[in-house]
Amino acid sequence: MVLAGCDTEGWAIGGPRATGGGTNHACVGPGCGSAGGGGFAGGGAGGASGTGGGGGGAPSFDPGALADAGLPCDAADVLASFCVQCHGRPTSGGAPIALAALTDLTQPSSVDPAKSFGERSVTRMQDAVSPMPPAGYPAPSPTAVSAFAAWVSAGMPEGSCASVVGPSDAGAFDAGPPVLTCASGRFALRPVAGDAHGGPTMAPGLACRSCHLGQNFDGQNPGNAMSRTDTVLDVMGTVFPALHEKDLCRWDAGVGADALKVEILAAGGAVAARLTVNAEGNFYGDVPGGLPNPYTARVVSSTGASRVMTTPQTVGDCNTCHTATGASSAPGRIARP
Ligand code: HEC
Ligand code: HEC
Ligand code: HEC
Repeated sequence: MVLAGCDTEGWAIGGPRATGGGTNHACVGPGCGSAGGGGFAGGGAGGASGTGGGGGGAPSFDPGALADAGLPCDAADVLASFCVQCHGRPTSGGAPIALAALTDLTQPSSVDPAKSFGERSVTRMQDAVSPMPPAGYPAPSPTAVSAFAAWVSAGMPEGSCASVVGPSDAGAFDAGPPVLTCASGRFALRPVAGDAHGGPTMAPGLACRSCHLGQNFDGQNPGNAMSRTDTVLDVMGTVFPALHEKDLCRWDAGVGADALKVEILAAGGAVAARLTVNAEGNFYGDVPGGLPNPYTARVVSSTGASRVMTTPQTVGDCNTCHTATGASSAPGRIARP
């Protein structure tokens, strides 16, 4: 689409402020910053053709909207280049909240209500274990993070930024699938017909319940040769130390997942079941009265830190969505808090 009052390059073209000549940063006229603009989603090339608008199919958020969002440039630039691809309006990529205006950042965090989403943003940008943006996506420089953090520490004073620096081009953000990791470098044996290597710590990351039912999720049970139909529990899955750990990746010895619990929540938030996470991250069990339909879930650590799935689900085979890259809009693995 053409943003009225803007050059037709929209946000798709042009480099950082220092080299971009400013042409793509001057979006301050009427029509600038309107939603649904220049095509963040991969392949969009945004308004370059004057007709752009994504191309990736996913709803896209125009980072130009950050020019009029109450933010100083230090904050607006970071959000525009590295965050609103997922934390725009609407959100995408499994992001739970928008981070697209000062009023988003000043809201209390659902993860830690004593903190604002601005403070949580700083924490997550500096979090080596579960960073934001998620591992594999382009991230702001340490200098940019420091500038953002200083503004948050100062209490997030309102500002304005007429020339927000967007991503250097729309394609650059689409870094392809996330980089998959295995922090421990150790893998469990893959179940094979004749030897499933079965037991409580088996097959971390694979679709437990599907295989136990004799199904072949994602080619994990060739020929449907394996099953354990007497052990098909309401909830089965794996918690990993990071969001994009590979199938069968084991926990680091000594780190241990066993202090974690998975809680299954009924509508209204009552805990319907609390499952132990074992030393390889696996959890499994029945829910008294059956799996609530729908349910939500969270992972809780011994210190009370948690990660919450707020989107209601009906399938208890958690790893069918929480694959290494994430399926059905899941962000990737169920990661430890
Ligand atoms: C590729 C998509 C994507 C990008 C890009 C991204 N996020 Fe996220 N963000 C997510 C997902 C998915 C979640 C929910 C899972 C989680 O918390 O790890 C999330 C959750 C969050 C949360 C709420 C959870 C908490 O810990 O309080 C904050 C704050 C956050 N992101 C900040 C950021 C910031 C700041 C950036 C940019 C520097 C960013 N994100 C970039 C996908 C993304
Ligand atoms: C590819 C198929 C397959 C996958 C995937 C799989 N299992 Fe199994 N599982 C089996 C088979 C077959 C057995 C029994 C055979 C054996 O003990 O080797 C078994 C046995 C078990 C047992 C022991 C049951 C008992 O009563 O003795 C547990 C517990 C278990 N699996 C949990 C899990 C969990 C948790 C996951 C997911 C993280 C999982 N399984 C993934 C096929 C699978
Ligand atoms: C049908 C797909 C699906 C299934 C099945 C599913 N999830 Fe999720 N999960 C999602 C999506 C989508 C998100 C991101 C949105 C959100 O957080 O609500 C998510 C997010 C999460 C998060 C927060 C994000 C993170 O990892 O930090 C947790 C924790 C979680 N899920 C746990 C579970 C557990 C436990 C189960 C199984 C009992 C499960 N999920 C089954 C789709 C699924």
